[in-house]
Amino acid sequence: MTRMTVNGQALEYKLDPQTPLLWALREASNLTGTKHGCDDGACGACTVIVDGRAERSCQLPLGSLEGSVVTTIEGLSANRSHPVQLAWLAEQVTQCGFCEPGFIMAIAALLQASPRPSQQQIDALPNRCACGAQPRILRAIRRASAAMTEAAVKRPATPPNR
Ligand code: FES
Repeated sequence: MTRMTVNGQALEYKLDPQTPLLWALREASNLTGTKHGCDDGACGACTVIVDGRAERSCQLPLGSLEGSVVTTIEGLSANRSHPVQLAWLAEQVTQCGFCEPGFIMAIAALLQASPRPSQQQIDALPNRCACGAQPRILRAIRRASAAMTEAAVKRPATPPNR
């Protein structure tokens, strides 16, 4: 048995500890937003956030995840309101859509760690789109980055004195 928190919900998976997280999410939890692509860690379609880091769920055995906190595309935000999701819509990124959840999760984790990522950090994203949406994805990253840093500037670091 592996206990973890998925999208804010405490879960116990009674599966073989070698089962990849991808299949626990898709088959046991019906969280099918996480996609199955290459199955060898190369494409990024299966990316989820584990303990704050973007991870390829096809490469993570359940047994290594006891106590982990996992976020999938379904749990990223209420009403698809995460800045990356809003930027995705604004830049009309979607083409076939298969790579989207993994890309969005990888970008959300990147911007959480580095709200103003360098081009080198963006280029280092391992996710790939086979449709040719890459230029729109890059614009969406810049748009989401701007929205997140603007929101951080507007938010006071400490509560004002009363
Ligand atoms: Fe996991 Fe491609 S399916 S990286």
